[in-house]
Amino acid sequence: MPPAIRYDAHVSAGGAVPPAGSMTNPFRGDRQSAMEGERIFAAMNCDGCHGGGAVGWVGPSLVDGRWRYGGADGAVFQSIFYGRPRGMPAYGGVLSPGAIWKVVTYLQAQSIPKDVPTERWR
Ligand code: HEC
Repeated sequence: MPPAIRYDAHVSAGGAVPPAGSMTNPFRGDRQSAMEGERIFAAMNCDGCHGGGAVGWVGPSLVDGRWRYGGADGAVFQSIFYGRPRGMPAYGGVLSPGAIWKVVTYLQAQSIPKDVPTERWR
């Protein structure tokens, strides 16, 4: 089980930060892990919801530099491990922590487009 993780971007009530740890991606920047993460992303059908290349479909884009739940290593890990309420399944019981980190590495390896469209597609 991953520990409760710190959301550094959050404003804490009364300035008192709840006890939590920071998680860092052990594979950050590793090309081999990014390639394996890309394979896992397709094999686990992440692309069925997030689109090929994770550019967004029924699930949000994971490569536009914008995050609903935070883009820090641990935040992205938690999104995948525990799922998120509006339709993101939990993969913690399916993927090993190492496999999740490889997917995170793959997502982090994608370059953020200069011009991110803000309009919604109907
Ligand atoms: C059934 C469709 C579906 C599948 C399959 C799916 N996702 Fe998601 N995912 C979503 C939706 C919808 C959201 C937005 C959830 C929300 O807003 O609460 C989401 C959110 C996320 C987030 C948080 C994004 C943010 O902006 O903070 C990450 C990271 C993520 N998904 C990664 C993955 C990965 C990796 C996989 C495959 C292991 C995967 N998803 C499979 C639908 C899916």
